[in-house]
Amino acid sequence: MAADPFLTLPQLEIPQNSGSITVTAPSNIALIKYWGKSQGQIPKNASISFTLNKCVTQTTINYEPLTAPKLTSDTEFEVFVDGVSKPEFAPKIATFFKRIAPYMPWIGSFKWRIDTKNTFPHGSGIASSASGFAALAGALMHLEVSWATAPYQQDLWVNKTSFLARLGSGSAARSVLGPLMYWGGHPALPESNDLFANALTKDIDPIFLDYKDTILLVDQGEKEVSSTVGHNLMHNHAYASQRFAQAQDNLGRLLKLMSAGDLDEFCHLVETEALSLHAMMMTSNPSYVLMKPNTLAIIDRVRAYRREQQIPVCFTLDAGANVHLLYPAHYTEQVMPWIRKELSPLCQDGQFIKDEVGQGLKKL
Ligand code: PMV
Repeated sequence: MAADPFLTLPQLEIPQNSGSITVTAPSNIALIKYWGKSQGQIPKNASISFTLNKCVTQTTINYEPLTAPKLTSDTEFEVFVDGVSKPEFAPKIATFFKRIAPYMPWIGSFKWRIDTKNTFPHGSGIASSASGFAALAGALMHLEVSWATAPYQQDLWVNKTSFLARLGSGSAARSVLGPLMYWGGHPALPESNDLFANALTKDIDPIFLDYKDTILLVDQGEKEVSSTVGHNLMHNHAYASQRFAQAQDNLGRLLKLMSAGDLDEFCHLVETEALSLHAMMMTSNPSYVLMKPNTLAIIDRVRAYRREQQIPVCFTLDAGANVHLLYPAHYTEQVMPWIRKELSPLCQDGQFIKDEVGQGLKKL
């Protein structure tokens, strides 16, 4: 693949007046984890995720033409969350605008107002960077497509959205479509590459297209170590190269299990991945632990329940203490009473979110 496939810019008719657009983008939960990257948001290994449905960021961007367009590396914007100005989010968004400017030079012709809100509880420990940057990239791409003087090829549109989202937050690349997205070059996936994510559409047992993710909110506080710091700690990590090789290998194995619909092995592998991610954190230098005592208590109960009930429920973890409980939708009636009785008391304020796999970005 060419180093920069999106540098060829379409012909656009840039409007002279102001306007706005609103999109929603979901969060996603990785089954094979991305942890460790090279310069330019290039992942050290391939990853694959379920796109979620209800954990969504809704973003409206308002644009107003500037009389004297700014240098694109210095885009003018304001950001609001739930209607409240949030200058503390500006540095990350400014970096994003700088990174995407070569691919969307027109952003410097406007002053932007970004209004964003999440459907999941504020500070719930659910990463909003994946849904947030997918929404922002998606909104900007919708503008570019609507201003193009010639029809925009659908593939190019989707791939460029994922490419731009990646420049905000790596995992955001996987929030554009659903229900399963892969990102990062892998020999078993001919279309795979490090620059944008693709939807996994072939060789999948349909059971994985109707999956639940009940997110157990063990700890709703701010993460003690950000993912930016965590990724950086992989640079001099004693086990980094083994981890990247393990993830590549695990992804190849997962694809075979998903094609065969092997739920037992799927559960084992997904749990191994979650614990490998946290093992990397615990063996970083300096080391850190994002799991809480109740994370481990839940893990124990999930494994006991699966063993005793023979129901293929498994857990995965993001970079935090919350537990994502994954199971085929047709087990919901059996699983929910157990979650309410046994697991919700281990959550902060008893809270959990009932989510499921979804389809990605939407324009409202
Ligand atoms: O997208 P980032 O840079 O916040 O990295 C997040 C990585 C994990 O969420 C921990 C795993 C993944 O693949 O989503």
